[in-house]
Amino acid sequence: MKTKFPPVYYADYLQLDRLLDCQTTRSEKYLKEPAHDETLFIIIHQVYELWFKQILHELDSVMAVFKDAYVSENNMGVAVARLTRIIEIQKLLVQQVDVLETMTPLDFLEFRDLLVPASGFQSYQFRLLENKLGLLPGQRQNFDKHAYYSRLSHEHQALMTQALAGPSLYQLVENWLERTPFLRFEGFDFWENYKVAVKRALDKDREILLTNPLLTDKEKAKELKEFSAAETGFLALFDETEHNDLIKQGVRRLSYQATQAALLINLFRDEPVLHIPFQFLTCLIDIDELFTTWRSRHALMVQRMIGTKVGTGGSSGHTYLRATAHGHKVFSDLTNLSTYLLPRSELPRLPEEFRKNLGFYYSRDHES
Ligand code: HEM
Repeated sequence: MKTKFPPVYYADYLQLDRLLDCQTTRSEKYLKEPAHDETLFIIIHQVYELWFKQILHELDSVMAVFKDAYVSENNMGVAVARLTRIIEIQKLLVQQVDVLETMTPLDFLEFRDLLVPASGFQSYQFRLLENKLGLLPGQRQNFDKHAYYSRLSHEHQALMTQALAGPSLYQLVENWLERTPFLRFEGFDFWENYKVAVKRALDKDREILLTNPLLTDKEKAKELKEFSAAETGFLALFDETEHNDLIKQGVRRLSYQATQAALLINLFRDEPVLHIPFQFLTCLIDIDELFTTWRSRHALMVQRMIGTKVGTGGSSGHTYLRATAHGHKVFSDLTNLSTYLLPRSELPRLPEEFRKNLGFYYSRDHES
C-alpha cells in the first residue's frame, strides 16, 4: 500500500529496541545466580505502568471536557466512551495478578531483598491517578508519620503538587451535577415531589409491617424500632443542614445540590436526556469499584507472597493494603445513592411538558 507519508518500520515505530532493553535484573548484577522470576516481576510492573499511562491519558481528556462551563451531549458521549475504556483496562489489571501469582513465595524470596526500599508504594503514576480522580489527602491511610509523597523523588513530588492544585475529576463532576438544569423546571420541583413519594413509600412499608399477621406484638415493636431508625436516616436526606454536618464530619462528601441532581439522574434515567448522564455516573462507580477490586486482589496476593512480613516500602504489608482497599474510594456517595432509590411505580409523575423536554437533548437555553 502506498501513502504520502514516509515509510516506517514496525520495530522503529514502537521503539522496540528501547522497550525490550529495559528489563535489567538486579539478581544478575548482585547475585551469583540470576533469579529466573525477576524478569516476570519487572515486566509485570512495567505493563501495569504502561496501562496506568493509558488510563491517565483517558482521564486527562475526560477532565478537559468537564473543565468547560458547558458540557455538550457529544462530549458526554466521548467521556463515557473513554471511561468505558478505562474500565476495560482496569479489568485487565485485576486479571494480571493471576500471572504474577505463578511466581511462588519461595521464588520471590530469591530476589526480594534486592528491592528495598523500592515498592509499588512509590508508583507515581498510581498516585497521580488517585489524586486526579479526587482521593482526598485526609483520606489516605498513613503507615508512619511520613506522607506518601515524601518517598517520591523531587520530580515526582512536583507532579503530585501540580495534580492537587487543579480540580480533580470528583470536583469537576460535582460542579457539573450542581449545574443540572432539571431540578426545578417550569413549575415542577423535583425535590419536593420526590420527598412526597418517599414519605408515601415509607408509610406503605410501615403499614405492611403493622399488618403482618405472622409477627407477634413484641416482634412488631422490635421491627418498628429498626424501621424508624432507617426512616430517620432516609429523611435526613431532606435536611440540608444535617447533610452539611455529615460533610463536615467526613461521613458524606457530595454537596446537597449535586446529591439531588445525581438522584434525579438515577431515578429518571429512563428519560432519553438522562441516558448518557446515567451511564457517565455508572462509569464512575465502576471505576471506583474496580480500583477497590484491584486493591483487594493485590492485598490478597501480597499476603500469599509475604504472609505477615512488612513490605519492602516499610508498611505493615497486607494489613495496610487491606485498609487502603476499604478507605481509598472516591465516588462512594454516588454508589450509596441506591439507599434512596424508589421502585419506578413509586416515583413522582412528571408533568407532560417536563417529560417532553426530557425527551430531547437539553441545550444551553435550559441552563439555570
Ligand atoms: C510480588 C509482588 C508484589 C508484592 C509482594 C507487593 C507488595 C506490596 C506491599 C507490601 C505494598 C505496601 C507498601 C510497602 O510496604 O511496600 C505495596 C504497595 C503497592 N503496590 Fe505492590 N506488591 C507486588 C506487586 C505489585 C505490582 C505488580 C504492582 C503493579 C503496579 C504493585 C503496585 C503497588 C501499588 C500501586 C502500591 C501502593 C498501594 C497503596 O499505597 O495504596 N504491586 N505492594
